[in-house]
Amino acid sequence: MKFVEGLVHKEFTTKTGLSCAIRWPKKEDLRQLTDFINEIAKEDTFVAYGPSDHETLESEAKWLDATLASCNNGSESYVVAEIDDKVVGAAEIRRDVSGKSRTHHVASFGITILASARGIGLGNQLTKTCIDHATDHVGGIRIIKLTAFSENTTAIDLYKKHNFVEVGRIKNALFRQNKYSDQVIMVKEIE
Ligand SMILES: CC(C)(COP(=O)(O)OP(=O)(O)OC[C@H]1O[C@@H](n2cnc3c(N)ncnc32)[C@H](O)[C@@H]1OP(=O)(O)O)[C@@H](O)C(=O)NCCC(=O)NCCS
Repeated sequence: MKFVEGLVHKEFTTKTGLSCAIRWPKKEDLRQLTDFINEIAKEDTFVAYGPSDHETLESEAKWLDATLASCNNGSESYVVAEIDDKVVGAAEIRRDVSGKSRTHHVASFGITILASARGIGLGNQLTKTCIDHATDHVGGIRIIKLTAFSENTTAIDLYKKHNFVEVGRIKNALFRQNKYSDQVIMVKEIE
């Protein structure tokens, strides 16, 4: 499928009755996506971004340009969830950075939803839509991998529901709130 900025993939009603659209990103999302990632960083939740990480409009613009280019060339599928014109969640599947032939079939998955929009079904919808579209859009992927904090049972349960299987753990590979955590590695094979 050819990448089109802002193209809506799915519209649905959340468990709380809100209308939500899942769509590809667009240049005009810059300010919203900057606010989004900074809110997540400030929350200090189970993602790579922590309170000491902050994106400016300028740094986020570089990231957004690169993301749109990767979506355009088929090495990534990045989708956002939007409620009332506000980006409240995002998920991505990205071919491994090296892009070399040995790992051309391997991609990584990531997902984040604002605290105010959790527990209403967006995680399930974003995961399904992102995987469905990536298997079509990111050509040739056979393996999707991800990592999670071992305490993040909400995310791990979500991944299991979408047929990710734990393949290993790296002890103390993550550090958050003055404490080391094991990093869980999960994999999903695409038929
Ligand atoms: C993990 C995350 C993406 C889940 O998204 P969500 O929108 O809250 O999830 P949903 O409402 O779609 O629920 C999906 C599943 O998650 C689990 N879940 C959701 N809320 C839960 C809760 N309060 N307690 C336990 N499990 C929960 C359930 O298994 C649920 O499936 P079900 O509805 O079929 O029972 C979201 O909580 C999040 O962004 N957290 C912070 C960032 C993060 O941890 N990202 C993942 C990094 S690996």
